Amino acid sequence: MTETPPPRRARAEIDLGALRANVRTLRARVAPHVRVMAVVKADAYGHGAVRCARAALDAGADWLGTATPHEALALRAAGITDVPVMCWLWTPGDPWDQGIEAGLDMSVSGMWALAEVREAARRTGGTARVQLKADTGLGRNGCQPADWPELVEAALKAEADGLVKVTGLWSHLACADEPHHPSIAAQLDVFRSMLDHAERAGVRPEVRHIANSPATLTLPEAHFDLVRPGIAMYGISPSPELGTSAELGLKPVMSLKGSVALVKRVPAGHGVSYGHHYVTEAETTLGLVPLGYADGVPRHASGRGPVLVGGTVRTIAGRVAMDQFVVDLGGDEPEAGTEAVLFGSGDGGEPTAEDWAVAADTIAYEIVTRIGARVPRVYLGE
Ligand SMILES: Cc1ncc(COP(=O)(O)O)c(C=O)c1O
Repeated sequence: MTETPPPRRARAEIDLGALRANVRTLRARVAPHVRVMAVVKADAYGHGAVRCARAALDAGADWLGTATPHEALALRAAGITDVPVMCWLWTPGDPWDQGIEAGLDMSVSGMWALAEVREAARRTGGTARVQLKADTGLGRNGCQPADWPELVEAALKAEADGLVKVTGLWSHLACADEPHHPSIAAQLDVFRSMLDHAERAGVRPEVRHIANSPATLTLPEAHFDLVRPGIAMYGISPSPELGTSAELGLKPVMSLKGSVALVKRVPAGHGVSYGHHYVTEAETTLGLVPLGYADGVPRHASGRGPVLVGGTVRTIAGRVAMDQFVVDLGGDEPEAGTEAVLFGSGDGGEPTAEDWAVAADTIAYEIVTRIGARVPRVYLGE
């Protein structure tokens, strides 16, 4: 049987050269002693974890960060064995044994997690690298200030027993993307006092950290020993209030492209796509783009999402369906197979993920992260 050729329908191009440039830009924003953890959770925000991790390390990242232990173990399984990898979203029963064997830095936010990690260390005979997470005000994961002394004391006891090594103390900001939000200074104050308590009790962490992308870019007082940028590494501004990616010196890494599958002439008054929410005003041409919500194109962008076809930015006509949507080409007749660019760097006049975030009432993080597995990733600049 002959081999099936790669799909022409759609692809997400991942520009690893842009990713490396973004890592260098971020590195230049922090003092030389500050370490950079490349956050590659959620398959590197949809860009492909292993390739992005390698590119980030090439460009000077020192650590890798994931949410789940399975994501972190996958990096180790891919052969990334010589850099520290931290993962922070643990659920009871998760693979602590494998985490210890793989030398992961494992976040602990409460007593149940410390108990599981201690048991795993006893079982495996290893020493678990543990980072204690403080809830300094985000109100999500992390240990409350009132519970911190108990967690610190128990962690130090486990350290004295040779079961764990407390390698880090860390937290996460709620509003770093809103410049001057009062919670930023409040969280930093709480973080400093929780660090102070732990260090006075005897914890000697390798790293203390709280900064995500917006804090890396705008809050040097939040850099401590390490920063954890995610979205900025993928060339996307953390929020419009901080500026566009170009204004921040970042280059978008992902471009989402499809091939127009059909161009046809239709008369005035023709309904388009499910529900007929778009009806042609005059005789026109319609272009069918074979990407839909199964590929991560938000249905919420129906009637609003921008797409570059044949040198002109068009708007999605009617509803986004599971596998396809339609654009009104206003009488233009590009050939079937013409490229349709949903988003990219913007350099060629195409929309950006930030434009799509506006069109879909969401954040650009979600636009890139939700691009589905059915869309092949094509790597440039490896
Ligand atoms: C704990 C933690 N650190 C760092 C990041 C990276 O954040 P950003 O993508 O805003 O840089 C995230 C992402 O949400 C996170 O959950």
